[in-house]
Amino acid sequence: MRVKFLETERIFLAPLEERDAAVCYKWFADPEVRRYLSSAAIVNTIEKSKAFIAAANSSSGEALFGIFAKPENVHIGNVSLGGIDLINRNASIGIAIGEKDYLGRGIGRETVKLILKYAFYTVGLNMVFLNVFADNARAIASYERCGFKRRGELPQCFFRDGGFISCVIMSITKKEYESMET
Ligand SMILES: CC(C)(COP(=O)(O)OP(=O)(O)OC[C@H]1O[C@@H](n2cnc3c(N)ncnc32)[C@H](O)[C@@H]1OP(=O)(O)O)[C@@H](O)C(=O)NCCC(=O)NCCS
Repeated sequence: MRVKFLETERIFLAPLEERDAAVCYKWFADPEVRRYLSSAAIVNTIEKSKAFIAAANSSSGEALFGIFAKPENVHIGNVSLGGIDLINRNASIGIAIGEKDYLGRGIGRETVKLILKYAFYTVGLNMVFLNVFADNARAIASYERCGFKRRGELPQCFFRDGGFISCVIMSITKKEYESMET
């Protein structure tokens, strides 16, 4: 039984559990999935995946969810709102769809919009930001469709495949989100 914490017609988000570590491990062992993830150079294990889930679930500053596709309720990826700062009312977002058949079908956009609604109206945040590899065109396009704006670029931020890649910083305020929704 999964707790459907947030949902749309096509997906629901549920807290991750220890039993989800194996599938997360499988995704993050796949070079195609890891290619755009900043933690990719670190060797992963199922034990580390379990520890990652346990640490997020015991932190009051992080909301980590599995993304489940309806109607089969398949676990297809993860999304998190991290570094939740209740004084300055901001947080960062991280997302990865690990099941490749579900990429590029608008599910990333749907998930991010759902998390933004949660961030602004349930958690009470005012701004959400993220960092993305400058060459991750699909992710940047998806975030722009959610209302994120490019705020700047950090040159040579990530080391991948023998070279440095810049990172684009994107953010959205609650006001910008509301102007998109109306
Ligand atoms: C980033 C991610 C969450 C986006 O979710 P998604 O469901 O695949 O993407 P969406 O379908 O919402 O949007 C993709 C958009 O990029 C566009 N796109 C796809 N490939 C593209 C490319 N090579 N160049 C430019 N745009 C591209 C699509 O046309 C679509 O835009 P549209 O809705 O205006 O047509 C998902 O691709 C993913 O998890 N990727 C692997 C891990 C990753 O990159 N995580 C992000 C780390 S910051």
